[in-house]
Amino acid sequence: MSNPSLLILPGDGIGPEVMAEVRKVIDWYGAKRDLAFDVSEDLVGGAAYDAHGTPLHDDTMAKAQEVDAVLLGAVGGPKYDVLDFSVKPERGLLRLRKEMDLYANLRPAQCFDALADFSSLKKDVVAGLDIMIVRELTSGIYFGEPRGIIEEGNERVGINTQRYTESEIDRVARSAFELAMKRDKKLCSMEKANVMESGVLWREVVTEVGKDYPEVELSHMYADAGAMQLCRWPKQFDVIVTDNLFGDLLSDAAAMLTGSLGMLPSASLGAPMANGRPKALYEPVHGSAPDIAGQGKANPIACILSFAMALRYSFDLGDEATRLEQAVEKVLADGARTADLLGEEGVDPVSTSQMGDAIVAALDASL
Ligand code: IPM
Ligand code: MG
Repeated sequence: MSNPSLLILPGDGIGPEVMAEVRKVIDWYGAKRDLAFDVSEDLVGGAAYDAHGTPLHDDTMAKAQEVDAVLLGAVGGPKYDVLDFSVKPERGLLRLRKEMDLYANLRPAQCFDALADFSSLKKDVVAGLDIMIVRELTSGIYFGEPRGIIEEGNERVGINTQRYTESEIDRVARSAFELAMKRDKKLCSMEKANVMESGVLWREVVTEVGKDYPEVELSHMYADAGAMQLCRWPKQFDVIVTDNLFGDLLSDAAAMLTGSLGMLPSASLGAPMANGRPKALYEPVHGSAPDIAGQGKANPIACILSFAMALRYSFDLGDEATRLEQAVEKVLADGARTADLLGEEGVDPVSTSQMGDAIVAALDASL
């Protein structure tokens, strides 16, 4: 059997730096666990725009459709702010999500014990936190028509449309219930059914799907109240399912509870391919951080943990994913901190590549 294939798209800003550390981890699995991957690399975002005048070349899109999993770094940067909307770096990422039909975006927010002090919330509120946000990723206001900026009378109007079909809600709800079944069997669905028809339909469909999962305790919350509860007592949640825009906001808020955006991975999953693996793209939740790019300051952990999610969700290697997660935990417990995690007196930061090396060393020690 041929090796599983990975397409790596480092992207912009700190993307290439953090991805270089993921490559060390991938190589380690090939050398030490006999898990070799066929890795190819290509451009996305501003890097692709600079080379091809488009944030995602058609050939790259075609490759992404063929591989077993895509690993993406980050896209965007101030240099591209002036570009037309249609060729902004972000469009490359949105095209990947849409054309691969990656409807279920899994964003875990886990607080590592060693980092509980970094949260802006009190330690007892976040210590041991382990929640999973499932964000719908291919529909809603991000993609709804009509959209645009039009002239009306003597002024312009900006338009975006929130739109959800029953089947779009149904499939992401099922992904969330399936995850809840493997976790603490609690699912909270968030929308704005008090003001939005799409929210009313969302609530109805999720409730209906819930009948197929009687063991899962389902609750509903308005998304604004959900945001408040996430800050008040996040440990009340296990799995949260929500739409594209609310998921974008709530996942950033949840991420910050854990202390640093630099820690959190994500998986975007679609329907199973012919080989049974889901269409999949893995990427850190953080952005391209242009202010620190190229200085060896970036934290590679979110990107490395995104590869751990690939091991778990694409390659059914849950034990190896856990091995990698534990290696990260050990390195943090031993005190290694990239610049984003500083705060303690007398601790010097490690560089991006030192952090990667430390994680590889912890993997070695796990054997
Ligand atoms: C995210 C990001 C993206 C989004 C941007 C980069 C298009 O904020 O993945 O959360 O809005 O979905
Ligand atoms: Mg976001």
